[in-house]
Amino acid sequence: MSFIELKKICKKYPNAAKNSVTDFNLEINEKEFIAFVGPSGCGKSTTLRMIAGFEDITSGELYIDGKLMNEVKPCDRGIAMVFQNYALYPHMTVEKNISYGLKNMKVPADKIKEKVDWAIDILGLSEYRYRKPKNLSGGQRQRVALGRAIVKDSKVFLMDEPLSNLDAKLRVSMRNEISKLHRELGSTTIYVTHDQVEAMTMADRIVIMKDGVVQQVGKPMELYEHPVNKFVAGFIGSPQMNFYDVSIDGNIVKFSDGKTMKLPESVISKLGGKTSGLILGIRGEDIKLEAQSLDVYKDTKQSAVIENTEVMGNENNLYFTFGGTVTIARVSKYEISRVGDTIEFVFNPSRIHFFDKETENCLF
Ligand SMILES: Nc1ncnc2c1ncn2[C@@H]1O[C@H](COP(=O)(O)OP(=O)(O)OP(=O)(O)O)[C@@H](O)[C@H]1O
Ligand SMILES: [Mg+2]
Repeated sequence: MSFIELKKICKKYPNAAKNSVTDFNLEINEKEFIAFVGPSGCGKSTTLRMIAGFEDITSGELYIDGKLMNEVKPCDRGIAMVFQNYALYPHMTVEKNISYGLKNMKVPADKIKEKVDWAIDILGLSEYRYRKPKNLSGGQRQRVALGRAIVKDSKVFLMDEPLSNLDAKLRVSMRNEISKLHRELGSTTIYVTHDQVEAMTMADRIVIMKDGVVQQVGKPMELYEHPVNKFVAGFIGSPQMNFYDVSIDGNIVKFSDGKTMKLPESVISKLGGKTSGLILGIRGEDIKLEAQSLDVYKDTKQSAVIENTEVMGNENNLYFTFGGTVTIARVSKYEISRVGDTIEFVFNPSRIHFFDKETENCLF
């Protein structure tokens, strides 16, 4: 049996018109790092709080280490949690906030000091050790909340957007610290975020939710390469995948602005004869501008005028109208184009996805 198991878990808050979480099924292995992602309000925190025991489970079963947890008190579930609103004890210093839980657990004083010193050091909080929360910035408070959780030797860590208030640089370094910590401690971790970069870089597997329903569970690259539907395809990856309303005539794709593109038989045949009600999806990096690709994929060649550019340093995003919508191509820093330039580009046909317009399910 897996280490944590959620079986058809539902949550309906009292007086709510509908479920906040519906039929959530998931098996988590010991030591796995799982990320829950999805837009605001999709039920990530609710699910995490049900696992922690801070919210009742309306229906379904939750098992941790083979034991049914539905009625078990939070303190008896063997978990440490970092909350989204990181409520700290206002009258306690950073050090006291971090050590409080250990004192309650009757850990010997020398052990507590060792743990707290370690946490304060890796979280970069040495300067603030004797300050109270009201005299800390949001990011510093968030790190204290993280410290409170990591000093406990819990088998399960639940973290609800623990890095959301940190600046970009600190986020990257804390991301690495949490990953390192996870490898060292070997604790099973569920990490909630709406930042898909965090999910992609940290998690063994990602759970994508929408409106309280799990859309797809998989390894980061599985979700990126093989999204099950348009929602997942659009959620994972930045810039977002380009989507076009299209129809098919023979081997020709017709876009809504009248443009056409010839695709190989091997791609068209996968549609199984479906010719209308289709959405074509392609990621920005699979739209190519360099000479070699223009030659290899010449059947798909198109042209457009650049309307906007985003220079990122290592790569550039080019914006142009094509196929009835704004398209974003992601090109290397060596392919310099300016607003107003006319460019030629091709689609790498093997990287094209098709979705059913009605169900939004991925056809391949
Ligand atoms: N105590 C509550 N009573 C009623 N409805 C609630 C309660 N808490 C959350 N909800 C609703 O349940 C849904 C899921 O909320 P939840 O906090 O789990 O979302 P989330 O995915 O964590 O979002 P965010 O990214 O904004 O934190 C939302 O529609 C929210 O309004
Ligand atoms: Mg939340």
